[in-house]
Amino acid sequence: MFYMFSKVPRGSINHSLGDSITYFLQSWVSGLKDTEKIKQFETLFAKYIDRKYCVSFPFARTAIYYALRLQNLPKGSEVIMPPISIKGILDVVVYLGLVPRYVDLDLRNFCFDEKKLSEAINENTRAVIITYLFGTAPNIKKLVEICKEKNIYVIEDFSQGLNAVFGEKKLGSFGDCSIYSSSAIKQIDTFGGGHLLTDDDKLIAEIQSEQKKLFPSNRRFLIKKTFTNLIYNIATTKLVFNLLINPILMVLKKVGVNTEKMTGTRNKLPIILMPKEWFNAYTSFQANVGIKELQKVEALDKRRINHAQKILDLPSSIEFSQRENKENHSFWQLIAFSENPLNLMKTLSDHKVDSCTSSLELLSELSHYPGSCEMPNAKKIHTKGIFIPCFARMNESQKNTVYEAIKAIQINEK
Ligand SMILES: Cc1ncc(COP(=O)(O)O)c(C=O)c1O
Repeated sequence: MFYMFSKVPRGSINHSLGDSITYFLQSWVSGLKDTEKIKQFETLFAKYIDRKYCVSFPFARTAIYYALRLQNLPKGSEVIMPPISIKGILDVVVYLGLVPRYVDLDLRNFCFDEKKLSEAINENTRAVIITYLFGTAPNIKKLVEICKEKNIYVIEDFSQGLNAVFGEKKLGSFGDCSIYSSSAIKQIDTFGGGHLLTDDDKLIAEIQSEQKKLFPSNRRFLIKKTFTNLIYNIATTKLVFNLLINPILMVLKKVGVNTEKMTGTRNKLPIILMPKEWFNAYTSFQANVGIKELQKVEALDKRRINHAQKILDLPSSIEFSQRENKENHSFWQLIAFSENPLNLMKTLSDHKVDSCTSSLELLSELSHYPGSCEMPNAKKIHTKGIFIPCFARMNESQKNTVYEAIKAIQINEK
């Protein structure tokens, strides 16, 4: 009987259930406009990444919008983009009259292939967005060097790369500026938020002036976020996941609904206007959450990283490319490859481990946008990369279930 109720969920959010409840209740009454509190978070976060400045916006896409717009790039300039990311970033690039240009990824680290990046840069290239997928660190020094030789503006998106390093330095401290999204499921989750970090004195003055022009924050929007977060947290508790969510997933799968993606599928069409909420001010409530979460993130990350490293140290025939340079990665997700992902997910499920593939968009194949093309490695990562449950709040018994599954599956798959 107990065995029936012991499946490990595919993921979880970083907040404890108690914190989620508290934050939900506080979001109804907390002050939203305390600029000193927001500054306090910005200063602490900048220091954490070893940057001079941080400015907070409601979304990472908003921060990228300003980072690009303030470069005053001529219309039609090319921006080198990751083929896998969120659609909002592509929307921003296209909205600014810039042309996305995709570069395929290196299967060893899920970031740009160095040679392909070098070949893609032409006289029209003005900026590059380097995205670290799943907390995996590439040789970022080399990637930046390739761009800087040609005077290309470098934006790092380290939304999935917090606490990953290259050499002694944290990801997010290498480019001209860097962006971190503190949306749900991230290591620092402030119910949304996009933070622009830089050492550039001139840029920061302009960015701060844009921040002051944002629309007033919206409490209803915030309450919706804290509520969704609480529901997600409840849904991944052991009892609710096993009594309710897992059976629902199974029924959906049986009737042909795609349940393989982390959080469902999304609209693939270009937007006509950027939604107003992309330009609502980041709130002091969120900054306050950020200050608290910053104090916890290192300890929580250590637990997740240890779990990932332990899996990678198991003798296994499963393909894990994050084995290479594993001391640098922070494993926002641990990725297993399989030529037959449905089969591997089914086998994992038989071993009481729920798994999924990324719900990020394969941007390079969005045919309604300019620049769409085939990117074989990105496609492989998108369709054949499977998230092995690896989150900070897993208990020992859940971890052991995963270890046992990984060990057993290597026998089955051989
Ligand atoms: C790489 C990456 N960038 C950005 C975001 C989110 O950006 P936003 O804050 O605009 O929703 C995510 C969220 O999943 C992400 O994975």
